[in-house]
Amino acid sequence: MLVYLIREFKPQDLQQVIEIANESLTERYFPQLFLDIYEAWPRGFLVAEFHEILGFIAGSKLSNEARVLMLAVRKEHRRRGIGSALLRKFMAICKSEGLVSIRLEVRTSNITAIEFYKRFGFNIISFIPNYYTNGDAAYVMWRMI
Ligand SMILES: CC(C)(COP(=O)(O)OP(=O)(O)OC[C@H]1O[C@@H](n2cnc3c(N)ncnc32)[C@H](O)[C@@H]1OP(=O)(O)O)[C@@H](O)C(=O)NCCC(=O)NCCS
Repeated sequence: MLVYLIREFKPQDLQQVIEIANESLTERYFPQLFLDIYEAWPRGFLVAEFHEILGFIAGSKLSNEARVLMLAVRKEHRRRGIGSALLRKFMAICKSEGLVSIRLEVRTSNITAIEFYKRFGFNIISFIPNYYTNGDAAYVMWRMI
């Protein structure tokens, strides 16, 4: 069994987080964006660690709603519950801060992530054409906390 730790992101994690984002996500983000997200809400940026960073979740909050901006797990460590552990901890933090709902956007072709979020009680509530840089559409998924 892999005994990893879920903890808050630290700026020293940046290179590894970018590496995971680049191997997992289709959009490309400037390094400063990760730091801006962290500075805006440090408790909403979590990493899973076991010797190295295995995955991360980065969120934002507006009024009483949280948003999952990015969630990714290293390819070789997927399907071991790490994404679930990150999302569960993120939801617990949202709850402790009095937030009432969570929303996120997901590429309509990303069946893996859609299945993953559905398992956590997220429902598709809308469709945004041309959401991503390459013109792909997104579903908005949402759940109460
Ligand atoms: C989505 C992602 C974060 C899931 O992380 P993970 O650590 O592999 O997820 P878990 O092991 O916690 O999976 C939990 C459940 O989600 C569902 N799931 C996960 N991967 C799946 C897949 N490839 N196909 C179908 N269902 C899947 C399953 O129900 C799984 O439970 P099970 O393994 O008991 O069947 C990971 O696949 C990833 O990094 N994908 C690339 C980046 C991405 O698409 N991010 C989301 C968009 S913002």
